[in-house]
Amino acid sequence: MLSFRQATINDIDSIITIEEQSFAAGIKEAREVFLERIRVFPAGFLLLETKESDSPIGYICSELWPGEHELQLNNLTLGHSIQKVHHPQGQKLYISSMGVLPEFRGRGYGELLLNQLIAVITRDYPQVKSVVLIVSENWLAARKTYQKLGFQEIGLIPAFFQPVDTPSEQGIIMRKKIS
Ligand SMILES: CC(C)(COP(=O)(O)OP(=O)(O)OC[C@H]1O[C@@H](n2cnc3c(N)ncnc32)[C@H](O)[C@@H]1OP(=O)(O)O)[C@@H](O)C(=O)NCCC(=O)NCCS
Repeated sequence: MLSFRQATINDIDSIITIEEQSFAAGIKEAREVFLERIRVFPAGFLLLETKESDSPIGYICSELWPGEHELQLNNLTLGHSIQKVHHPQGQKLYISSMGVLPEFRGRGYGELLLNQLIAVITRDYPQVKSVVLIVSENWLAARKTYQKLGFQEIGLIPAFFQPVDTPSEQGIIMRKKIS
């Protein structure tokens, strides 16, 4: 059985475990960044749990940005402070990260996490008009998940992702409008 709940700061070790197994060196977010996200916008930070595991198997985190203005690149960089960009009345839900433990992938859990977050946020923050995110050109499972949920590619950011051991990767900006 699957269940969703908001993250708390006590979940930080489980979140870091998922992060470690989901992203390459140079792309992982720091512990402090996740702690700030949980403190500033707990409603936008969900965990996925299953009876098969003692600890959460997936996470998704987000922030609300004011207005419908275009994405500001410096708002998006790895390690950016949610405190500086998040606004509870924001109309744009930015998905800052998502990951599922490798042994639980291939079951559609990423799709469930994203759907759940969008459902909860659009219910509780009805002013939200769109959901945006940035995905690497190389993250094919993630791109497929977003496409299946109706996200469209609206822009490219050259060399946005800069892993330590491999060449930089283009970032694809994706958006889903909320009707
Ligand atoms: C993105 C992620 C959360 C999705 O988790 P998931 O629900 O288990 O998704 P899957 O890995 O099963 O893949 C989702 C879809 O992509 C497809 N897929 C998986 N690997 C693929 C590949 N290498 N090439 C093309 N499609 C692929 C799957 O077949 C599935 O499509 P389907 O349902 O039509 O069969 C998970 O893959 C993950 O944690 N990845 C690492 C971190 C990451 O990339 N996060 C996204 C940040 S923007």
